[in-house]
Amino acid sequence: MTPSTICRILLITTGLWLNLAVATPVVPLGRELLAVHRETILRVFLPRDLRAAVSLSCLECRSALGALSLWISAGATLEDVENFAINECITLNLFPGDVCFGMVKLAGPEVLYVFSNSDYSHDTMCGWMFGLDCVHTELDPWTVEIPGGKPEPNHPEPVQPTPSVKKILHLSDLHVDLLYDEGSAAVCDHPYCCRNAFGTAGPGVPAAGHWGTLAYCDIPLHTLEDLLSQAAEITTPDLVYITGDLPPHDVWAQNHATNLIAIETTMELVRKHFPDVPVLNTLGNHASAPVNSFVVPAAYGDGWSMSWLYDSVADLWAEWLPESALVDVRRGGFYQYSPVSGLRVISLNMNFCNTINWWLLIRNEDPVEQLKWFVETLGNAEAAGEAVHIIGHIPTGGGDCEHTWSHVFNQIVYRYESTIRGIFFGHTHGDSWSVYYDMDTYTRPVAVSFISPSGTTGTSHHPAFKVFEVDGGHEDATWVILDATAYSTNLTEANMEEALQYIL
Ligand SMILES: *[C@@H]1O[C@H](CO)[C@@H](O)[C@H](O)[C@H]1NC(C)=O
Repeated sequence: MTPSTICRILLITTGLWLNLAVATPVVPLGRELLAVHRETILRVFLPRDLRAAVSLSCLECRSALGALSLWISAGATLEDVENFAINECITLNLFPGDVCFGMVKLAGPEVLYVFSNSDYSHDTMCGWMFGLDCVHTELDPWTVEIPGGKPEPNHPEPVQPTPSVKKILHLSDLHVDLLYDEGSAAVCDHPYCCRNAFGTAGPGVPAAGHWGTLAYCDIPLHTLEDLLSQAAEITTPDLVYITGDLPPHDVWAQNHATNLIAIETTMELVRKHFPDVPVLNTLGNHASAPVNSFVVPAAYGDGWSMSWLYDSVADLWAEWLPESALVDVRRGGFYQYSPVSGLRVISLNMNFCNTINWWLLIRNEDPVEQLKWFVETLGNAEAAGEAVHIIGHIPTGGGDCEHTWSHVFNQIVYRYESTIRGIFFGHTHGDSWSVYYDMDTYTRPVAVSFISPSGTTGTSHHPAFKVFEVDGGHEDATWVILDATAYSTNLTEANMEEALQYIL
């Protein structure tokens, strides 16, 4: 299921509700729109292929949200809207009933809260969140104050040969599925498969492999354990960076407890396989249930909260972090910590740049004052002559990171280019990198971010991890990256040979 499926379901159902609105005199505009667009609304959403992209025009989207608004002001309750959404989802055969029910019940209350309490127009909601061709496709811009006094750019070259090299293992998007069933259907009518509950293999239906499957499936626990144990043996790291997304993709069946179990289980294995190594984590968009939902403090007063997640990961990360860092984790899911002398690691909660975190429609201006804190932290590191590594889940500059957030991040990277010596992201499941340029001429590269491959499979990725060699652990260490090596296994062969082999 694509993350915005819940919203699509709401859109469809509210679009269809225009059908009901037609019977009342209050919405002449709705009636007119319905006449023109009802066929289109039905056509685009009818499930010829569950995973086919659906297209929706801005006008259709706005008419659907307009109808929803009217329905709510006419007295519709949360339960009315949820029931309607679930029924339509089932009637239209968009997803199996448990998916319709689970997703709507999980996300319905907050989606409706945000919808009813946002100051943004329906046009912006449709244009920003769904990427539709509306008049407004961005949230309001904002800025963060960045101190002047930038030193002359200095990108130090390590002494060659370097007196010592430290190794950083980068793991990302592990997505362990504790309910994975070997031999179950790898292709099924649910958005994610490889569980007995979602279908059994048979003629024409491929079976889930022992180590995992290149399909809409995540990896079983023993594959995660094997990956961690081999990564430890092959790379013997001095530091481990884990850039988020530990729970699986069964987003309709999740709740706070299921996600915390996946996170705890993974952390336990990490402790076991890297007993004396500092481990630095970040929060991915899949840490939350419902997926992508990171509440902004502006909504805390109405009873919404993130403490279920922030407090729990603070307890788990206490293994590697001091109380001073845990305070920030509990406050906003981010922190800074110096695991070795000379290097400061800043772990960002990138979920406030996520373009499908609907809470940004309540407040998008640096919601937890994280970027303000980021600037202060970099300023302190600059003053102390420390090198900084940044870890985060969602890469900036791509379509998943909100435009202004990304832009402010660029400005900060440019200001502190001499202090920042490494940026590490995940989220895409692929192995790539991106370059940041100076913001005067956009011609001089000032930083690089490394986006590391996923531990989980999905349809096209073999389980993988990456190790970086950095200039570290001596008096004049620059902590710049000297080399990077990605290891991956061939699942097809592993499932035949009964062993996973990680190769370069
Ligand atoms: C994995 O192994 C299979 C069987 O040997 C081979 O056909 C396939 O090309 C390999 N895939 C990769 C990505 O190396």
